[in-house]
Amino acid sequence: MKTITEYITTDEKKNREIFAQAKEVLKQGGLVAFPTETVYGLGADALNPDACTRIYEAKGRPTDNPLIVHAKDAATAKKLAEFDEKSVTLADCFWPGPLTIVLKRKPCVPDAVTGGLDTVAVRVPAHLTAQGLLKESDMFIAAPSANLSGRPSPTEAEHVLADLSGRIDMVIADDSVNVGLESTILDMSSETPAILRPGAVTKEQIEAVLGEPVRAAKDLVPESGDDFSPKAPGMKYRHYAPKAELFLICGNKDRATGLINTLAAEAVAMGKKTFILAGSETAGKYKDGEVIDLGGNAFEASAQLFKALRRCDEEGAQVIISEGFEEKGMGRALMNRLIKAAGDNIISV
Ligand code: TXA
Ligand code: MG
Repeated sequence: MKTITEYITTDEKKNREIFAQAKEVLKQGGLVAFPTETVYGLGADALNPDACTRIYEAKGRPTDNPLIVHAKDAATAKKLAEFDEKSVTLADCFWPGPLTIVLKRKPCVPDAVTGGLDTVAVRVPAHLTAQGLLKESDMFIAAPSANLSGRPSPTEAEHVLADLSGRIDMVIADDSVNVGLESTILDMSSETPAILRPGAVTKEQIEAVLGEPVRAAKDLVPESGDDFSPKAPGMKYRHYAPKAELFLICGNKDRATGLINTLAAEAVAMGKKTFILAGSETAGKYKDGEVIDLGGNAFEASAQLFKALRRCDEEGAQVIISEGFEEKGMGRALMNRLIKAAGDNIISV
C-alpha cells in the first residue's frame, strides 16, 4: 500500500481539498493519520467496525485495547455517550483540548472501538488540523496514537511515516504538535472520578472544576500481579519503550546529577553508546555521553520527550539515563511516561 502524504499550508482552499481527500479515504474504510495538540492520531471512521479493525492491524495493537473517539464538538460527542452533569461541566471547561472523558457508551458505538466495554473514551481535540478534518468530514474519528504498538507516540509527521508508511492510506502533515504527550484520560463512568492517564489537563485543574478530589493514575496501578486488569486496558502494556535500557534517576537534584555522571562514565567506559536526558538547568553538568536538553520546565520537556526517545533509537543508543521531574501539574504526565519507559530501572537518591 502506498501512503499519501499531504502538507497543510496557509492556502485554505488547498487545505479543504486535503480534508475532502481524507474524508473520501475515511468513507472507504481507510486510515488517515493527522496531528492533534497532543500527538498524531491514526484515524478511522469510528462507526465502521471494519475500518476500526484495520487500525489494530496497522499498529500491531492488542485488540483488547480500546480506541478514543474524536468528535468535532461537545454537542456532537453527546451522541456517543451518556454525559452526566459533571461531565457536561468538564466538557464546557476543557474542550476542545487534551482531555479524554470515559463515559457509558450509547448503542451506536461499535464493539470494535470499545473492545466490548460498556464505556467509550471521547475527546474533542483543539488542534486546527484535527478540527478541520472533523468538521469537513463530519464524522466521528476513532484514533489511537499513530505509532507502531510499543513505540513512542509520534509528535511529527516523520515519526508517523517511520512507523506506518505503507501500512496506512494517508498522513496529513502539519507543524509539530505542541503538548507532546497523550491526552489526560478521566474516567467519569464510576462513582469517584479517576485519572487513568495523566496529561496536560492536570489533576489540580480537574479538581478545581469538579470541587471534589479525583483519584490519581498512580493510585490505580497495583504493585504487580498477573491478575492486573486495569480500567484503561492500555495501562498494562509496556509503552513508550525506546530500544535502549532507560534508567530514571529521581530525588535530590545534586545527588541525582552526581549519580548520573557516575553511571554515564561507567557505561561509556564499557563502550556503550550513552545518552542523558536532562533539564536545561543541569544539562551543562554532565561530562560523559551525549546530553539531550529537554528544556527549562515540565511543559518543554513533555513536548520534547518522545522526539528525544526516537532520536536515541535512531542513533543506536544502548543506555539512556534520564533525570526525574517534580510530580506536580504537567510533571505528573511527564514522569508517568518516563516511569513506563524505565520499567524496573528507577533509582531514588
Ligand atoms: O492524546 C491522545 O489521547 C491521542 C490523540 C490521537 O488523541 N490518542 C491516544 O490514543 O493516545 P491511544 O490509543 O494511544 O491511547 C488510548 C488509551 C489506551 O490506554 C486505552 O486503553 C484507553 O485510552 N481507553 C480507550 N477507551 C477506553 C475506555 N472505554 N475505558 C478506559 N480506557 C480506555
Ligand atoms: Mg498510544
